[in-house]
This record gives sequence, C-alpha cells and structure tokens, in this order.
Amino acid sequence: MRAYIRSMIEGFRFLPEYFPPAAQKALVGEVLGILETNPLYRGAMPRTGKPLSVRNTNLGPLGWVSDIKGYRYQPVHPVTGEAWGPIPETLLKLWEDVSDYPAPPEACLVNWYEAGTKLGLHIDADEDAKDAPVVSVSLGSRALFRLGGLERNSPTSSMRLASGDVVVLGGASRRAYHGVDRIWPDSSTLVPGGGRINLTLRRVTRA
Ligand code: SIN
Ligand code: FE2
Repeated sequence: MRAYIRSMIEGFRFLPEYFPPAAQKALVGEVLGILETNPLYRGAMPRTGKPLSVRNTNLGPLGWVSDIKGYRYQPVHPVTGEAWGPIPETLLKLWEDVSDYPAPPEACLVNWYEAGTKLGLHIDADEDAKDAPVVSVSLGSRALFRLGGLERNSPTSSMRLASGDVVVLGGASRRAYHGVDRIWPDSSTLVPGGGRINLTLRRVTRA
C-alpha cells in the first residue's frame, strides 16, 4: 500500500486505496445503474459555449451545471428535467468518515473521462459552504492530477490517482487550483470503455 501523503497545502489529504477492489466494483455498478435514468451529458463553458472535454452528471438534491449562462447548482438534470439520482450510501459513509463536517453532502458531481479528455486547472468556487471540504473518489483508469495553490500561477505538483483513491480538499486546499492533465485509458478495466469516473462530494449550502 502506498504511503499516505500530505501535501504542502494545509488540508489536502490523499487516501490511497481507500476503497478496496470489491467496493470499487460495487460502487461502479451502482453508479452505472443510476446513470440509466440520470444520463451523462456534455456541459459547455460559460460565455463561449465551448463543449467541456469531460461528460458529467450529478447525484444528490443539487447538481453542478456549466453552460453558456455560467456555473450554478440546480435541483434538476438539465436534459431530462428530472431530479438528480440519489447519492449512494457508500459515499455518504465516506463523507461522514473524512469530511469532519456536521451536515451531509448535497451534490456528487460524476465526471466521466474517456481517452484524450482532461479537466483544466480550476477552483471549486460555486458552493456557499467553503468551510466544507470537497471529497473526490477515483474509479477506473489512472489519472494525472495536478494540485496548485491559491493563485492560478502558483507552483503545482502532480500525482497519479488510481482506482479506489480518495482525495480530500479541505482547509486551505479547498481554495486551491487543481485539474486533471490526462488519463491512462485502459490502465483499468473497471469502467466500461477503459475510462475513468471521478465522483466529487460537495456541500453547497452552509450547514
Ligand atoms: C474535479 O476537480 O472536479 C475532479 C478532479 C478529478 O477528476 O480527479
Ligand atoms: Fe474541482
């Protein structure tokens, strides 16, 4: 097992292999089931309307949406108009275990990375509950995750995230730039098509 790493930024935690293989498989199965009625869709960049590289959807009472009008949280899926699917119990337990926050997450963003996709350097800034961490679960193929600092041009460091790994962006790291430079497709067969699923749990409203 890889060692636990604490980065230079206060509040960043890397929990390698938090979920063992059987739990990863069960979680992927559960998420795939929910996606049948709560489908992935392709969002767009605010202002330009340029399509996002990564398709996504959400679970929970609120979901993060990006389109030409901007970024926001909303209670319904923008394509189906229905409420988002439920956050799996396993993820609610994870939040209880690692968040140190007195209220449950309200949104779980499901990002689906296919070969050649990436996520540019950004801050998660659309939540009022900046006192709650963002908790991320990686499933399937490995990814090159980049963590920077509080400014876009702060120095960054990169690490590989593998299936089952959990990352907590809490404390000062909650406001740190981060992104995914690439994935290694087919480095895992867990996700159909050899891709990667990333689940991020967020508290949106202040508890
Ligand atoms: C995110 O920043 O929302 C996702 C990070 C990841 O895919 O590891
Ligand atoms: Fe993010």
